[in-house]
Amino acid sequence: MKKKINIGMIGTKFMGKAHSHALRDVSMFFDLDVEPVMKTLCGTSPETESIAKKYGWEKWTTDWREVIEDPEIHAIAVLTPGFLHKEMAVAAAEKGKHIICEKPLANSLEDAKEMFEAVQKIGVIHMTNFNYRRVPAVNLAKKLVDEGRLGEIYHFRAVYQQDWVLDADWVWRFDKKQAGSGSMSDKGSHIIDLARFLVGEITEVVADSKIFFKEKAVPGKNETRPVTTDDACMFITRFENGAMGLFETSRISAGHKNFLSFEINGSKGSLIFNLERLNELDIYLKDEDPSAQGFRNIIVTDPLHTYIDKMWPAGHIIGWEHTFIFQYYEFLKGIAENKNPSPSFEDGVKTQAVIEAALKSVSERNWIKVARDL
Ligand SMILES: NC(=O)c1ccc[n+]([C@@H]2O[C@H](COP(=O)([O-])OP(=O)(O)OC[C@H]3O[C@@H](n4cnc5c(N)ncnc54)[C@H](O)[C@@H]3O)[C@@H](O)[C@H]2O)c1
Repeated sequence: MKKKINIGMIGTKFMGKAHSHALRDVSMFFDLDVEPVMKTLCGTSPETESIAKKYGWEKWTTDWREVIEDPEIHAIAVLTPGFLHKEMAVAAAEKGKHIICEKPLANSLEDAKEMFEAVQKIGVIHMTNFNYRRVPAVNLAKKLVDEGRLGEIYHFRAVYQQDWVLDADWVWRFDKKQAGSGSMSDKGSHIIDLARFLVGEITEVVADSKIFFKEKAVPGKNETRPVTTDDACMFITRFENGAMGLFETSRISAGHKNFLSFEINGSKGSLIFNLERLNELDIYLKDEDPSAQGFRNIIVTDPLHTYIDKMWPAGHIIGWEHTFIFQYYEFLKGIAENKNPSPSFEDGVKTQAVIEAALKSVSERNWIKVARDL
């Protein structure tokens, strides 16, 4: 009989739904050596009970410490605003629980490092949920880069644009203490992780950011509250391997709902990815027949592409939610094999170091070296 892994999940809303859905489906697609059990869901709202029942959890609570102290629970998902990640993850590690934590790992490099130290000290499995590493087209991009098909990498160019801030009332995401820096940490953490995954470590950053909306209306009240998180951030980087990077994050790009796109240019070719068409990758290879040369579009839905053999027949596309299913597959496999998967808390720390350097650059208006003594 397979060993049961009882899961406790903290957070019921956006990520709570995405992670619950993934946990429900993961064993349907993948043959795991362990059996995940949706034991306890924790949230703060009065609807936590009904949400837990709807998503398929056995138990529910509004006290996160109850989940972490429950000896029956083996693994914790931390899906709360960033300022709560450290306290919850460190407490979970101290109780010997494996942890998957949402991105950004923490709101500061110092907190992220403490979290990494805690999981290392106890020896539990840890993951930071940079779920875009799990997109099959992103994995194909990585394979092409790693095999040298693009040659020497010159440029990594990434944007992550949304527009929800334009019409939003005040939410926790507008408070630096709760959410971290803003679009830079929220959206930037994803594209920094992809840059590290695909091209390598970032050594230096120069950045600029701006708060365009200085206050937001408080829902249900005739008042406004100040906004302390950036609406947009732009930064240039140098990579360890000599490549140059260009990044842009914005939550006020009208018309862009969840536009994450990157382009890599190398001495032998280029590739372009766009999350809104996540089953596709555009590739240009210089060594192809010059008379038929140009960017070609690959539909990355063949069984030979990562994870697809466990999904549908070729051409039957997958969606955003599958990245969470694949992430839980990696997390549970890590627990079954006692082998830490990536992206780990260490990846969360390294991404946070780039964010911290970018923030320093904004305030000092200068190039800043990314901390390497992690
Ligand atoms: N990987 C991704 O693509 C992705 C997307 C969105 C958000 N996120 C990250 O996920 C995290 C949560 O974001 P969200 O969009 O789900 O936020 P949300 O506002 O939709 O949900 C936050 C949840 O945290 C719970 N919570 C808050 N304080 C709590 C407490 N003290 N005890 C127990 N529960 C508490 C709330 O009840 C709520 O269910 C953030 O770190 C965010 O950056 C990741």
